[in-house]
Amino acid sequence: MVGTAMDFVEHLKSSVDIVKTVGEYVRLKRSGSGPRYVGLCPFHSEKTASFSVHSTHQFYKCFGCGAGGDVIKFIMEIERLTFYEALKLLAERNGIPMPRRAEYTDEETKLRTALYEMHETAAKLFAANLHGAAGSEARAYLAKRGLAPETIEEFGLGLSERGGQALMRRFEKDGYPAAALDACGLVLKRQDGSGYFDRFRNRLMFPIHNESGKVIGFGGRALAADDEPKYLNSPETPIYRKSYVLYNLHRAKDAIRKGDRAVLVEGYMDAIGVYASGVREVVASCGTALTSTQVRALKRHSERIVVNFDPDAAGANASERSIQMLLDEGMHVRILQLDGGLDPDEYVKERGAGSYRECLEHAGGYFYWLADRARSRYDMRSAEGRMEAFKFLLPSVQRVSSKIERAALANDIAGYLGVDTGLVLDEFRKAATERREAHAATPASSMRPIEGLLLRALLSSEEARKEVLPRLKAEQSLERFSAPKVFETMIALQESQAGFTYSDLEARLDSKDKALLETAIFADDPSEQTSALEVAHACLRKLKQYDREMQRAALRARIREAERGGDLSAAMQLTQELLNLERG
Ligand code: UTP
Ligand code: MN
Repeated sequence: MVGTAMDFVEHLKSSVDIVKTVGEYVRLKRSGSGPRYVGLCPFHSEKTASFSVHSTHQFYKCFGCGAGGDVIKFIMEIERLTFYEALKLLAERNGIPMPRRAEYTDEETKLRTALYEMHETAAKLFAANLHGAAGSEARAYLAKRGLAPETIEEFGLGLSERGGQALMRRFEKDGYPAAALDACGLVLKRQDGSGYFDRFRNRLMFPIHNESGKVIGFGGRALAADDEPKYLNSPETPIYRKSYVLYNLHRAKDAIRKGDRAVLVEGYMDAIGVYASGVREVVASCGTALTSTQVRALKRHSERIVVNFDPDAAGANASERSIQMLLDEGMHVRILQLDGGLDPDEYVKERGAGSYRECLEHAGGYFYWLADRARSRYDMRSAEGRMEAFKFLLPSVQRVSSKIERAALANDIAGYLGVDTGLVLDEFRKAATERREAHAATPASSMRPIEGLLLRALLSSEEARKEVLPRLKAEQSLERFSAPKVFETMIALQESQAGFTYSDLEARLDSKDKALLETAIFADDPSEQTSALEVAHACLRKLKQYDREMQRAALRARIREAERGGDLSAAMQLTQELLNLERG
């Protein structure tokens, strides 16, 4: 069993291209013509690309935050899945049949698999209710709000049953264990412990999907005017972590990439209305404060965002808060405030998608929006008022990391608020010093360049490994290497029955050596004209030469010492040794 599971893992890894897989989440650029691709790390916030994917070794590595691994690890981290779920997802996406028994191995995976199924079941049931006899009132409501049948279909909208029994009965019939019923968030335990009832009753149901398109939760809108709250949402569950999810991202992500822009709105209905009008790059934060993890999910597809919240005070306050978060994550932020007091959904319906698009194109940078807020909040006729306004703006403009952009902003701020440009620049300088201190980099350890070159040659060619590893073992004392373990392990694997594989090598190294290995494989080699075998041989010659030089230097030092101590015969003898060495 272990054997076959491991075989499957290897089979999967060799059939899936990591560059293509990672490329679905991160915008990658090929670095030169080599096997290396770079992009912004999806696992931490950064403005310059320190995330690399290596197509030959099928490996990713971030030199900023240290995240790294193979394609399975990547899927586990980015989709927050267990190992088996990641295997399954990759197998499904790539049309590779999964061995049956590998599916339900650990308890956590079992539970999560059940939860996904329950959500799929619920979505189907809700949709059937909406389209059935009991759904006429809800259908009329949707029609009144201008939703076309195709839109209702595409967003998987549904209706939860009034009685509060239907879903619970279905789950019981399907035989889910209590652990799954307790965890799913779709049914609730009765106070007296006599079973469960449906959480959502007589509500319009909006399925919420994760980035790979699985239903993980629901928002339920009240249909009756007196029904509170207006929206009832799924609680957090093992498959629904709210701070990670943006509504509609799985549908919007291609358009976000293509147009290099995301539009962020507040509500389910806004996202649906805007999307259905043809502006497909729209996602919704769904009433909660925007989190850094949500922003990172967006940033993987584009760094540019237009925030278009409701035109009320709550929307403005939410925009203000989200600006800080977005800037912290290095996003390019513009704010759209629609006129006529319309929210995005109303706007596209009243004025059309064309007009809405115009508004998006012309949305101004966050700074002007904030400055207008500052000007309406403080008394701009007095020096104190202007200073207050400046202080209000300072935190967000200080976060701008580009020097040029900051310089331009300093002028804008001074002009807009009537404060002294020198003062603005002083504040910027202060902030820049603080940033530098915070970013004081820890030097990464690396192996000697010659070792790295040899390592890359050996990794890229079986022929080179066959010829050069035995010679390396015979001719070199590996203790003098900066990463002896890496080479020793390669030799051992090469000599082993199973032979050498990169993942075996990696698996046998401790974290320090693994880091050395990873750093070395992502280094660029100057030319690719010579074969790996030739490079490896040349490295070996070079290493021998270094060895001899070291020995010579050591001998020379000893000769000098003997001479200084007046031991001339020892000096003579050592000189003879030195001559022999130089000849041989
Ligand atoms: P809105 O009240 O603006 O809802 O709240 P909406 O989506 O635009 O719906 P309509 O157009 O009034 O029908 C914005 C978002 O805030 C969250 C929901 O995600 C909603 O889409 N919200 C709102 C809640 O979670 N609970 C609430 O009680 C209200
Ligand atoms: Mn609304």
